[in-house]
Formats: sequence, structure tokens, C-alpha cells
Amino acid sequence: MSGDNPAPYLDGIPPDTLRKVQQYLKPFQLSKEKLKEVSARLYKDMLLGLERDPPYDAAVKMLPTFVRATPDRTDRGDFLALDLGGTNLRVIHVRVVEGNPQVLYSESTTITTEIKEGTGEALFDLIAACLGDFLVSRDLNGQTLPLGFTFSFPCEQREIDESILIRWTKGFKCSGVEGRDVVQLLKEAIRRRGDYDIHSVAMVNDTVGTMMSCGYDQRCEIGMIIGTGTNACYMEEIKNMKRVAGEDGQMCINTEWGGFGDDGSLKDIQTEFDVEVDKTSDNRGVHIFEKMISGMYLGEIVRLLLVRLAEDKLLFKGRTSEALRTPFTFETKFISEIEEQDSGLVNTLRILTDLGLEWESVDCAIVRLVCETISSRSANLCAAALATIANRIRTNRGLDHLETTVGVDGTVYREHPKFSMRLQETVCLLAPLCDITFHVTEEASGKGAAMVAAVAQRLAAEPAGQ
Ligand code: BGC
Repeated sequence: MSGDNPAPYLDGIPPDTLRKVQQYLKPFQLSKEKLKEVSARLYKDMLLGLERDPPYDAAVKMLPTFVRATPDRTDRGDFLALDLGGTNLRVIHVRVVEGNPQVLYSESTTITTEIKEGTGEALFDLIAACLGDFLVSRDLNGQTLPLGFTFSFPCEQREIDESILIRWTKGFKCSGVEGRDVVQLLKEAIRRRGDYDIHSVAMVNDTVGTMMSCGYDQRCEIGMIIGTGTNACYMEEIKNMKRVAGEDGQMCINTEWGGFGDDGSLKDIQTEFDVEVDKTSDNRGVHIFEKMISGMYLGEIVRLLLVRLAEDKLLFKGRTSEALRTPFTFETKFISEIEEQDSGLVNTLRILTDLGLEWESVDCAIVRLVCETISSRSANLCAAALATIANRIRTNRGLDHLETTVGVDGTVYREHPKFSMRLQETVCLLAPLCDITFHVTEEASGKGAAMVAAVAQRLAAEPAGQ
């Protein structure tokens, strides 16, 4: 698969060393046949997820989102968006004009580790405070703008404005939120303040926001995130969903593909390093697929490999450093920097030096090979999962050939120099009957949250039965 071709920089590695390093890397290099198998397994798990009611014990949860339509040209108005899902909380004022969202103003607040690991009350008080301050600073207090709330964690949505957190992911651990309705928790926090009120709320996963951010003019029916976490959503036929009443039409399904493998179905491709990452994570045993792919974990997989190669005297003359032995010191952004076409070598030298390591040029080449292997596996697995969704849509429609657009966002996708290219190459091989266009939007999940609120408002205003 892509990433397997010998690169010129490998010439500097003595053949015997390279052979031994490759022994460690082989389990990460998945053949086209293996990726096809993974895709077929995901397809089966998606069907199981659609059947399960309630969804809690399905590995791939396939959560209905109550988003029943993509934007059209009549969608318009001003909206507020809240976006919580990783390191920042954003509040955004969005104007929708003829079905296309524009950001008028936005503010961002860092979510500290203290907040991530504190109480739910403290988290929602912070969200309410940021929203309150925003309303005052934008002179919007007293207006009743609909709110789209992008909350990027697995939630069982019962309606567009009722969303129960199934579990935290990505290092969040706030107490008293799992099993509760996030809309209620937000409203309670606003009530505790008592200085402003909100009206309609539309709950949105970031994948859904990213799909909807493409606006009315795109044939965008898939949303995908490859950032701190990973996930995708797509438009599914309502008749295939056990948990939604009705036969006609479509609804967006939040697949929560990060949970693929939680029932042990990926054991054959999980390496000992993946097992180690899972063991030391906050949410052991869950989000196995996410832990092989997303930004929160890629750097850590590389770090574990570098330590092992050094212990086996294949790197750094057998020496490590305290920094390298400390979990999470090898950041995922280092992988992008090391694989940069022109500045990659200079970046590698800086990163290794900052980590307190003594290197020679052969070490730099091996470190690069490790990074390429880990980021290529991530792109290949994402491609397998995306191919599964595209094939699903094609099968649902009974089409010989599908043309579709994927709204995509996330730091790994956007910032890694080769990730998007590798992903596209592999998805072409795995879904040859699907022609997939990728659409990247700035501020996608915030804009998309406003679009979801806009579409919900339009649908609510339409006479029943339309
Ligand atoms: C969450 C998803 C989210 C994804 C990307 C995962 O950890 O479970 O809900 O869409 O991260 O942010």
C-alpha cells in the first residue's frame, strides 16, 4: 500500500539494521487484501449497529442524529454556534445566506486539563459563561438566536435537542455527565447564572457539522474528522434504522467508527504497541480503531516504537533519554514535521535534540521511516473505513457508480503533509466504483452547527407531511 515504496533516504541505513527495523514495522503495513477485509468487517458492524436498540453494546454505534436533510438555498438567518470537542471551546456568530454559512465573529477559550478532568458542573458553567460573555460583547443579549451545539463525543440523540452522552473520549473525564442529557446540563448552567436565556438548541456531532458546512451547493453526504479523535457520518435511509420511527426519507447517522474493534474484531491487526497505548489510556478497551488512527495517539505509538528500537540497539546507539521514556512527549505534530518534504531533516534534528537524544544521520532516517509507517497505516485504515461508507451509500441507492463529496476536517488531515494524498490513493483502490471528492471548510464544525440549526428551523416551519 502507499507508504511501502522504498524511499532514497533509506539508502543510508545499513541493510542488516533496516531488515531488523522492518521486522518491527511489518505488522503496521497492511496489504490491500487486509484493508478490504477490515472494510468488510466494518460494513458488517455498521449493519449490526443500525439493528441494535439501545446502541450501547454495539462496537460501531451508528447513532441517529435527527438531521433529516442537507442545506438548501432557502436556508438563511443568524445563528449562534458552540463548538466543544478537543482543546478549545468556540462560540461563533454565523450568518446563513442562501444556504451558505459565513462566520461573522468567533471567540475561543482553552479547555484546561483541570476542566477536562473536573466536574460536569464546572465544565457547563464555563460554557455558559463563555456564551454569556459572547452575547454581551456582540450585543446579542435579549435576541433569541437558535443555537447549534457541536459536542464531539458519542451521544445517543433522541431528538435534535436531546442528546445523552454515552461516554467521554479524547481525555475528557468530567464527572456527572455520562448518561445525562447535554442540552439539560447546558440549560441548568444558564439557569444558575440567571442573566440570559436560550431558546432552540440543535445538538450536532462535529462530523455532522463538517458535512453540513459544505452548504447547499455541494453533493456532500459524508462528514469525516481525523483530528484528536476520528469519526464519520453519512446520510442513511430511515427504513434501515431500528431506533427511528418511519419509513421514508433519510437521516444522517453518526457512525462513531472510533469504537470499531471494541468487541475484539481488530485483534489481528492490533500490534503490541497498539495494545500498550490502549492499556495506558484513560478509556481502556474502548475506541480501539480511534487509537490506531487519530492525533491523540499517533505520536505515542511512534514513541513506543522508538524506545523499543533503541532498547534493541537499532537506534541512538542503544540509548534513550528521560524525555523519550515519558508518555506522550512525542507529539503527533512531530510526525508531520518530520515528514515535511523540504524541512523534514532539519525538523527531525531539532525534535530529537529537544528530546535529549544523541543522534547520527542513520537515526534520523530510521525515525522518519517509523513516522511514515505509522501515519500511512492511519491513512490506510481511514481509507478502508471511508470506502465502506461510500460503498454503503452506493448499495443503498442501487447505483453502479456513485459520485459523492466528503466534508473533512481535523488536524491530522489538514496538517500532515501527505496524509490526504495517501488517503485518497487508498480509497480509490478500495472503492473503485465510487468517485469521491474531498471538501475542506475552515471552521467547519461551527458553521455546520449553524446549518443544522437552520435546517431544523426550516423543517419545523414546513407543514407536517412535507
Ligand atoms: C468522538 C466522536 C467525534 C470524534 C472526532 C471521537 O472521540 O467519539 O464523537 O466525532 O472523536 O472529534
